[in-house]
Amino acid sequence: MSTDAVPGAEIYTGQFAADPYPTFARLRTDRPVCPVSGRFDQYLITRFDDARVALTDPRLSKDLYGPEAHYLRFFGPNSAGLNRNMLNSDPPEHTRLRRIVSQAFAPRRIEALRPRVARIVDDLIDKVLPHGRAELMHDFAIPLPMTVICELLGIPAADHGRVLDWTQVIRTSGSGERPPEQERAAVQDAQARLYHYLTDLVRAKRARPADDMIGALIDACDQDGTLSGAEVVATTFLLLFAGHQTTADFLGNAVLALLTHPEQLELLRSTPRLLPSAIEELLRFDGPLPVASPRIATEDVEYQGVTIPCGAAVGVVINAANHDPAHFTDPDRLDVRRVRGPHLGFGHGVHYCLGVSLARMEAQLGLGALLRRLSGLRLAVPLAEVRRLPAASPFRGLLELPVTF
Ligand code: HEM
Repeated sequence: MSTDAVPGAEIYTGQFAADPYPTFARLRTDRPVCPVSGRFDQYLITRFDDARVALTDPRLSKDLYGPEAHYLRFFGPNSAGLNRNMLNSDPPEHTRLRRIVSQAFAPRRIEALRPRVARIVDDLIDKVLPHGRAELMHDFAIPLPMTVICELLGIPAADHGRVLDWTQVIRTSGSGERPPEQERAAVQDAQARLYHYLTDLVRAKRARPADDMIGALIDACDQDGTLSGAEVVATTFLLLFAGHQTTADFLGNAVLALLTHPEQLELLRSTPRLLPSAIEELLRFDGPLPVASPRIATEDVEYQGVTIPCGAAVGVVINAANHDPAHFTDPDRLDVRRVRGPHLGFGHGVHYCLGVSLARMEAQLGLGALLRRLSGLRLAVPLAEVRRLPAASPFRGLLELPVTF
């Protein structure tokens, strides 16, 4: 890491959690390729054009499980069995791992889930409707995608609660609710429990074949040998985590953005056909994955005159690129009428979001129903009191979203 690295503490201040966009603007202008030291030492890339190139740059590897064991610095030792999946691999492994599940996420297959997703949305709203108030993260934004992905995978309904508890420990780590030592231990414990749970579930489904996605992964392992047993567990974990975490945070961020831009909220209520483009705009405006997952330079690589040394980690800052004025007119303005732009909210290149069709469908049904059914929706606390994930979290989202209606 270069000696003029900016300490992470200077970037990830308390104010950053509430509004990271002024910091991103400063980085984009003054230090578009900026080494940052802290929780992870990495080079942040913030301009749209650089970000797009970096996301497909073959010199920036996603293989975190090679001889260098890069995964240790990002995920810790307990995560070995969970994270060795397509997201942390390069072609040809990536191609093999992705091909096995990509058909299940094809737009036509996802479209068939629409009635079931609509039912889950309505059931969640039915529960809160009589009370006139709700905490939308735990009452709606988290359980919606969690239920959908658990059902797709074939995780029994009786287990959804504890699986949710473990994933939430991982998601909310660093939020200061426990001292750092206890926190690390809690995350490691949650990872270990999730790993053992998924391993046992795969074993049970192997003994009693099931017509669900875990069953399909087991077939790929046992019948044609395209997946190893360990890869079945790691792929299940990726689908479980990626399949609900980002969508939940997106729903929370989107509702908050609309509540703080009432004229946009009204426009969307009165013109529901804007919903698909509004979802793309909301994702551009305040996406749930501010920085793409880590890449490693496999040789010295130059961006904007800065040499990123071989072995260094690179973070492509999606949320900074999505506010680059070189690409988006008046980028800090939320405009649900904005013509669908080439934003990077779902990534770019071979790791482009596998669940994009499902995410869009959940967002359309979820947001659409909230706007239609919860009239008079407003924040129940002042904006400054809305609790967020910590500034240095890899995710951008809310801990709670209290509303009345
Ligand atoms: C990858 C965003 C929902 C599954 C990604 C990437 C982004 C992203 C930016 C690329 C990461 C990188 O290159 O480092 C989002 C957002 C979502 C969402 C913003 C919701 C609004 C979903 C859902 C699923 C899913 C519902 C369903 C399982 C995946 C998987 C990958 C991925 C498996 C890895 C693909 C690969 O490595 O080839 N997502 N995602 N995502 N996403 Fe999503």
